[in-house]
Amino acid sequence: MAGYSIRVFGDPVLKQRAKDVTEIDGALVGVVNTMVETMYEAAGVGLAAPQVGVQKRMFTYDVGEGPQVIFNPEVAEAEGEWTYEEGCLSIPGFHFEIVRPNLVTITGIDIDGNPTTLQGEELLGRVFLHELDHLDGVLMLDRLDPDERKRALRELRDVDLNAAARERVADVRQL
Ligand code: NI
Repeated sequence: MAGYSIRVFGDPVLKQRAKDVTEIDGALVGVVNTMVETMYEAAGVGLAAPQVGVQKRMFTYDVGEGPQVIFNPEVAEAEGEWTYEEGCLSIPGFHFEIVRPNLVTITGIDIDGNPTTLQGEELLGRVFLHELDHLDGVLMLDRLDPDERKRALRELRDVDLNAAARERVADVRQL
């Protein structure tokens, strides 16, 4: 069974704010399962719904403890600082050193519809913040300083990201 195709930089869906999830029904669980499959196919550690064209506030992730999903996530607390070479499934082949908080607490709704609180440090905290950005239409490019961003956008103009996505290499963890 094939997963979704991942939308790449330039697709307007990546710049829009996703809408709250109001009901977790069988159809939505099906979307979640296909997202997990898509994430694994692309060797990603996190995938937000807008990246597969679904305008809902939810993301899947797996940093080595099995697939997880959270609906309507919000940051409750973020502390410290951690520098990490970040990649994104929607910007294949590109990675940038980005400073973000180290210890991140988020709240949201779990697959059973219950409120949940999750805490992530280092990579997991990074996944939470990166995917939350996707739900707000924010890409890692928007986290760069203006010069670096300009340089990255110039480079991106000359790259066929869809081709890069087909030739994906799992050298950097993509979120
Ligand atoms: Ni991403």
